[in-house]
Amino acid sequence: MLVKVARGWEIPEREATPEHLYRDRRKLLRTMGFAGMGALLADALPAATEDAPLYPAKRNTKYTLDRPLTPEPVATGYNNFYEFTLDKQQVRFRVDKFKIDPWTVKVKGLVNNPKTYDIDDLVRRFPLEERLYRFRCVEAWAMAVPWTGFEMSALIREVDPKPDAKYMRMVTAYRPREMPGIISQPHYDWPYEEAMTIDEAMNELALFGTGLYGKPLPKQNGAPVRAIIPWKYGLKNIKSIVEIEFTKKRPPTLWNKAVPGEYGWYSNVNPERPHPRWSQAQERMIPTGEIRPTYMYNGYEAFVAELYTGDEY
Ligand code: MTE
Repeated sequence: MLVKVARGWEIPEREATPEHLYRDRRKLLRTMGFAGMGALLADALPAATEDAPLYPAKRNTKYTLDRPLTPEPVATGYNNFYEFTLDKQQVRFRVDKFKIDPWTVKVKGLVNNPKTYDIDDLVRRFPLEERLYRFRCVEAWAMAVPWTGFEMSALIREVDPKPDAKYMRMVTAYRPREMPGIISQPHYDWPYEEAMTIDEAMNELALFGTGLYGKPLPKQNGAPVRAIIPWKYGLKNIKSIVEIEFTKKRPPTLWNKAVPGEYGWYSNVNPERPHPRWSQAQERMIPTGEIRPTYMYNGYEAFVAELYTGDEY
């Protein structure tokens, strides 16, 4: 007997809103243009309406910190975004040519509903919320930041991966004319690519981030949409995503291809596995310099440990 076991990301047909219905509702709201109609249809709308302000989004208080928030100018002024420059304090001065409007995110591969989202639709399609997360770079520095975003699981449910899809690959924009670091560092295998298993991406902690400190993401932090995966090193948190692909085979990733001995494919935060050139047992808070012990999975063990055997690297 063939028993169909529902995967985590599969939802009953009745719970999904077909795109044409959703679009028609929005069109109707726009043309009617009066509040009464909005109220009437409010419960049928999946997320924010056209004109409602998106930021600041409501904070989800389930996710708490054990350390002070990093000041905004620090988190937006000390960045890794190699497409612009390797100099963390210069990234914000190199992004002015980078165009983030218009922007689309193409979702393709082994899915039943491939889609190309316009960013303006994407930020309203799924409910945005604010979450305070620890952020740990593989370089052994750490911050604590208020992200705004939506759960990756919401998008994954909508595109509906086929049963043989196992991985989700994400790709950053490749625009040498707007991203000076691409030209000055031709030895990297651009575009920046990252990936995770679908099971990992379905975890409640994994977000597509669209905002920071109650505002839309600044360009240097990965506008208009990036990955937020707080139990993994920062390098997995790919910025300025233009494409998402669902695959059967494990996709290569930029850092793992370049230096597999330093940056594992999983890159989960792990105090017991040193980088070849430095220990990961401790982390240095930016900007205070305070030294703290590194937590397994960056302190998110209760959420994610069940995804792993412990040998993943
Ligand atoms: N994404 C792209 N496209 N290019 C990058 O160079 N750097 C990664 C990650 N995402 C990077 C990227 C690394 S190493 C880190 S630590 C974080 O972005 C830094 O994010 P932040 O600048 O918002 O703190």
